[in-house]
Parts: sequence; C-alpha cells; structure tokens
Amino acid sequence: MKSLTSNQIREIFLNFFREKGHTVVSSSSLVPSDDPTLLFANAGMNQFKDFFLGYKKPKYTTATTSQKCVRAGGKHNDLENVGYTARHHTFFEMLGNFSFGDYFKLDAIQYAWELLTERFQIPAEKLLVTVYHEDTEAYDIWKNVIKIPAEKIIKIADKSEKYISDNFWMMGDTGPCGPCSEIFYDHGADIPGGPPGSEDEDGDRFIEIWNLVFMQFNRNENGEMEALPKPSVDTGMGLERISAVLQSVHSNYEIDLFQNLIHDAAQALKCKDLSHSSLKVIADHIRSIAFLINDGVQPSNDGRGYVLRRILRRAIRHGYKLGATESFLMPILNSLAKNMQEAYPELLTNIKKIEKTTLQEEDKFFETIANGMSILEQEINLTKKNKSTMLSGSVAFKLHDTYGFPIDLTADICREHNITIDQAGFDQDMAEQKNKAKNASQFKAKDSIVIDIDPTKFLAYTHNEEFSTIESIILNNEPAVEVSANSTCNLVVKESPFYAESGGQVGDTGRIFNDQAEFVVHDTQKLPNGVILHIGELVRGQLKIKDPVLCQVDHIRRDSIKRNHSATHLLHKALKTILGDHVEQKGSLVNEFRTRFDFSHSSALSETEIQQVEQIVNNEILQNNPTSAEVMALDKAKKSGAMMLFGEKYDDEVRVLTIGNSKELCGGTHVNATGDIGLFKILNESGISSGVRRIEATTGVSLIQIIDKQNQLLNATAKELKTTKDDVAEKIKQVIDQVKTQEKTIAQLKQKITNASKNDLLDQIEVIDGTKVLSTNIDNMEIPQLRALIDDLKNNIGSGIIILATINQGKINIAVGVTKDITNQFHAGKIAGQLANMVGGNGGGKPDMAMAGGQNINDLPEALIKIKKLLNS
Ligand code: ALA
Repeated sequence: MKSLTSNQIREIFLNFFREKGHTVVSSSSLVPSDDPTLLFANAGMNQFKDFFLGYKKPKYTTATTSQKCVRAGGKHNDLENVGYTARHHTFFEMLGNFSFGDYFKLDAIQYAWELLTERFQIPAEKLLVTVYHEDTEAYDIWKNVIKIPAEKIIKIADKSEKYISDNFWMMGDTGPCGPCSEIFYDHGADIPGGPPGSEDEDGDRFIEIWNLVFMQFNRNENGEMEALPKPSVDTGMGLERISAVLQSVHSNYEIDLFQNLIHDAAQALKCKDLSHSSLKVIADHIRSIAFLINDGVQPSNDGRGYVLRRILRRAIRHGYKLGATESFLMPILNSLAKNMQEAYPELLTNIKKIEKTTLQEEDKFFETIANGMSILEQEINLTKKNKSTMLSGSVAFKLHDTYGFPIDLTADICREHNITIDQAGFDQDMAEQKNKAKNASQFKAKDSIVIDIDPTKFLAYTHNEEFSTIESIILNNEPAVEVSANSTCNLVVKESPFYAESGGQVGDTGRIFNDQAEFVVHDTQKLPNGVILHIGELVRGQLKIKDPVLCQVDHIRRDSIKRNHSATHLLHKALKTILGDHVEQKGSLVNEFRTRFDFSHSSALSETEIQQVEQIVNNEILQNNPTSAEVMALDKAKKSGAMMLFGEKYDDEVRVLTIGNSKELCGGTHVNATGDIGLFKILNESGISSGVRRIEATTGVSLIQIIDKQNQLLNATAKELKTTKDDVAEKIKQVIDQVKTQEKTIAQLKQKITNASKNDLLDQIEVIDGTKVLSTNIDNMEIPQLRALIDDLKNNIGSGIIILATINQGKINIAVGVTKDITNQFHAGKIAGQLANMVGGNGGGKPDMAMAGGQNINDLPEALIKIKKLLNS
C-alpha cells in the first residue's frame, strides 16, 4: 500500500467518525473568541468547553474535528524546542472525537482501536496503552474487550498529589477534566527509550499518539472536583505524529507536509543540505506564521502579536543564518497555502494579506539584523574569551531595545555556542527603562501636574508663531524658577500658537527661544484647566520665569497635520455616502504622516468602494471650497445637522467645522480651503475588531513621496523587463506564460528520464527460486521518491520483491517493498532489518513496505547482493 499522505489521514479520521454518526465541525480560530485565559487554541476541546460544563447545549451530541493548535507562549510553550527535537512544533493539528454526554469509555476505546488497527492497519503488537491508576473501568475494557495483554496496559499513578498525573487531563487550573488513557506507538527496539511510567520514558522509542480523556469533573476555583452534568469524551491525536507512524518515518519532519516545506525553504534559500536544522525551524514556523496571521494576529510588541513577532523573527534569523539578506518567506508561504488548500482553503484566499504582513516584518527585521548579529557575535566571542558561559544581560537588552531581537531569539543563538543569558541583568535593564519611560511620561501624565494659573491664551487656529513670556517652568514634576541647558522640562507661556494633543490630532512640535536660550518642543499637551504644557528639552542657555520668548511651531509639520485632519472629515462624510448612515467614527489618529480612521462597518471595503470614497474626497479637494469654523450653541449645532460622536460629552458651546460637504464638531486645526489638501489616497483598509474597520490614508507631501517611490519602482521594473511602464503588466504576463511552458517541458523531460531509468531497473530483475527480485542502488533519491518508485515497480512486476537503496548526503536509505501476494513468505520489515544490520543502521516496517538506514557506504554493494541469498533462509 502506498503510504497515506497527511491530507488523506486527516480525511480518513474525520470520515471514520462521520460514519460513526459524529458531526464534522470546523476548527475554531487560533484566537479563542471568548476565553481570555487562553493565549491560543491548544487542544481540540477548547471550542467545546461550555458543552462539557453544561453551560451551553450543542446541536449535536457527538463531534469530530481537526483543530489548529499553537503551543508557543502561555502555559504550553514549545517554541524553544523547535528544531532541536523530532516532535515539537509551534503549530500542529489535533484530530479529535468528542462526546457530550453521549458515549463514554467503552465506545471511545473501541473506536480508537478500530481506527488504528483496522483502518490504519497498525499492527496491534506495536501499540501499548496507559490508564489512570484508579480507572479500573478503562483497564478492564482494554483487557477484556480489546484483549490487550496485561503487560501492555500500564497504570500511571499520581505524582505529588491526587489527580496530578500524566493520566489525568486538565484543561487548566480550573475547568473540565478527567482521567485519560493514552495510546503509544513503539518505534522499535533500536531507538532508545523506555515505556511510559518507566525511568527513561522520555526517550524516543514509545511515542504517545492518541489521548482519550474521559471528562468527568469540573475543577472549581477552590480546587474541588465537581461531577460534570454528563460524563463526556474528549480525544486528541497529533496529525503530524500519526502521519510519521503511517509513513514509517521516525521524525515528524520526515512526513510529507514537512518535507514539502523543507524543500521549498531549501530552494528559497539555495541551501543544499536538506537536513540542516534551520530548514526544520523555518518549516515549522512558517505554519504558525500563516495560520496566526490568517486568524487576525498582527506582529506587535505585546500579547499574541508579540508571540507572532518572536516566531517570525526566529524564522527570519534562521534564513539569515543560511545566507538570506532579504525577504525569503514568500514562496514558502505560497506553497504551504497550496499544500493545505484541501483542508484550509482560507490560507489561499487570504494569501495576499498573509504575505503583506510577513513581508513588512521581514523588511523591518532585515534592516537591523545584520548590525544586531555582528554585535552579538562580538559579544559571544568576548564571553568565550573571558571563559564565561553567560552573556551579559545589558547586551541582550540592547539587542532587544535597539535591534528588535526578542530575548528568546538571542537565547537561541547563544545556545548554539553553549552560552546562556544573564536573565536577571536583562530584567533589571528592562525595569530601568520602564521606569525612565514612566518618568518621561509623567510630563504627559498631565493630570498629576497642578499649575494654578490662568489658562494659556490659545492661538493655534490663527498663528504659527507668537511672542510671549514664560509663565511657569515644571522641572521633575515640581515648579521651578529657572532651568538651564540640557534639562528636560515643561514650559508654560502666556499665549501659545502650539496645538495641544486632542481629538485624535497629535500635539505640535517646534521651538521656544530668545537670544540666550533655545527650548525644543517635542510635544504639546493641555491640562484640564486650560494650561498648555510645552514638553521638551532646553538645548541652549537658561530660561527663567517672565523671560520674553518667541514661540514658533514647526509649521511644515503642522501643515501636513492639517491636511490629514481636514481629509479625515471628508473621508468620514464620503464613507457615510458610499456605505450608509450606520458608519460611526470609532477612533482616529492624525499626525503629519497619515490619518488613521476607525469606524463601524461589518465587512471589508471592496476595491470599487475604496475607489469611490477616494473619488468623492478628491472631488471635494478639486472644488477648492473655503473651509469655515463657527462657534455656536450645542442645540444650534445639532439642528444644523453637524456630525457628532455618539456617546461623546460636549460643552454647551461647540465649534462647527464646515469642510466641503462635511459639517462636523471639531477643535482641530484645518486647511483654509479644500484645495490645500493637495490630493488624497487610501493606503490600507483592515478590520480591527468585530464590526470595526480601519482606514489609513494620507495626503499632500507624504503622498507625493509615496507616488515618487512607486514610480521609481515601476521604472526600475520596466527597465529590468526591457519594456515601457505601460507595458509592464503585459510583459510580466508573457514572462509567466513562458515560465509555465518551460516548466511543462521540464516535467515532460523529467518523466522521460524516469521512464528510462525505470526500464533500466526492470531489466535488472532476477528470478530467484521462482520469485522476481530487484535489489539495486540508485543515486541521490529522496525518500518519498524512493517509496513512490517502489510502488510503481510493484505494479509493473505484479509479484515480487523490490529493494532500492540510495545514498544521499553521506547516508544510506533503503526502501523494501514486497507485493501483497507473497507477504506470507517474505516480510519487508524483516528484510529491511537484515539490510540495516549489514550497513550499520536501523530498519523495520510493515510486511509490504519497510525502510532501513545506515552509514557504512562501502558495505552497501555487498549487502544488496547478499540479501538476495538470504531471502529464502
Ligand atoms: N484534550 C486532550 C489533549 O490535549 C485530548 O491531550
């Protein structure tokens, strides 16, 4: 039998339980929708928690799923182990069947056994099971119904206290739980490790493949076990592990899903050594990256987003290790989406979004990685030179703070040199920085500053600069009479042209100065009593109360902010026109680079809707109507139809701003006429939470810069393609068509070569005692190719034994196939075992298909001859 692909295994599992009356339920999102205690979905049962507890009633009483799980960060964290072990993954799929008060232990065990031994045809003697030591019911079912020999049913006891046991499964500190029974696969005596419960159970020989949890209790907050309304079943089987068993490989990374990704990664990075552990890390991480982004996680500096950032940066770093200096993840993402499309078509649908987010993070990290790595390498050398095994915490902190190296990334690199990180030193630097930031933000913690003076005269609507006098100086949160150079402080002046942050518009920057002194304003904030704080640093001279000064706003920046702010009003109005009156502003941020506008709307905007909105705004700009601001009573403003924010508290007197066809209450600074905005473009549209969309857009100078950059890119592309800008798309299409045609030709040629070598192989068949036997060596084949060739040759010869060996990167792999009709005389697994003995390795497998490995290359030719003689012995 050709070994099953992982896609087929998933399908067979779900179908098996469908036949048994289970409802096939889709995997839930990796981001748990209503469980803040859970970072990511980490078991199939998460989405059914309320069914087990009896809080919600399901439409079905039995279900089956293939659940996407991420175990990185939070309680279950396998990130550090990926790449170093055969079985740890950040992302994996958990196959499971569930009963919500329907069947219990007997059926759960019978189903599992039937699927493993009958459908999947795993020899019963390769399996052993564990039960919770008090669970005599499960023990008796295994012994008397399934008839497993008693020595293969292992009772697992409690550890430190009752119910703390490998065979008592709990979702968390509270929640549904119960005793469980685990099924283990024996990978063979040649692999080190003991059975579960033994001292060396952590070895790799006996691998847990399926966990059957008999949900009986809810553990409450006091740690007491309350009986669940109905005993239930929750099972979990890692798709990657069962695939390894059914594809007769030992490491999960050898299964088809990972081999494809490893090949793609090797190709993208031009790496010849397919066994390089960095390829494994990338193959693992790319799955988390794609699925997390697909489920709405974005790289960020905290929470779920930071876990994603850490995974992404770790993948990028392993690419860098293999020589990449710029983005390399795109082609791997693409092929992942294609490989997974049967089960997860959404990856392909959302591939653009996934690629974009990934690319941004790659671009960002590739900017700093080289510098960061060179610093780290120097420091590692220094550490070694000092005969130390610990990297300084400050270095790790600097890498984190300046070069964007998450600490676990630095730790991962250090681990390759047997160096650890001084975590305490890192934590201390981190705490100090937080403190500094807190102090700095105290300038912003305006509520804690009390200055009992008259409100500042506010001139921002009309002035960019104004002469004034210093009214107050706040140094280290205390009033001061004077301040000297190189001090960070807050200044209050009598009248100010600076706009203080408010209504989503950022505070102004600029300078306050006279002949003797210069103060650089980094930000402007307002106290509740109307006093404006200018936050910044005195860079020259001395200032004291009552000194005369010129207050000068950075008007170029202010103009950009104005353009973006006025455009936001036009955008708001245009969105209402195109999408409908339900559009409500949910938040906004306006600075000199862009406007970010959040609003209520349930679905993504189409390309056409975006264009229509842009068109309305740009038309308003072209009409160049003057804007006007009028202060009026709130009632009058309401009657005038001005847009107001729902739930916002307004003063009795409000400022109504008319810009083009928009009328809105606003205190911000705006352009004099719409034409001043220049031009407007939406850069990005995305969803930020259920029912809330976000638009990022820009105007004027920033937009001209973006257009320039795109134009340069287009010019360069056209030049590269030796065509004109207008014809770029057409030319690319031609190139793609050409590549496709060439790919077809290559595939045909490859097929011809394979057919020729197959004929060659068929010519080498001998008949030994009436059985057709082929035992030979072919160079440089991959294991999946070798196995496929065996299946093919079996079909060709009808009946016989095929032994194909290959040497790849200094290692021998041998595949042995025996056609079904003669497996009663010849056992492929035993033949593989004999061959392995002769070439210094391990081997074994099923009666019709088995694998052997080894390293004694010189012994191979003789082994291939000798085995023919041994066949009948
Ligand atoms: N919920 C059980 C596990 O994760 C099946 O092992």
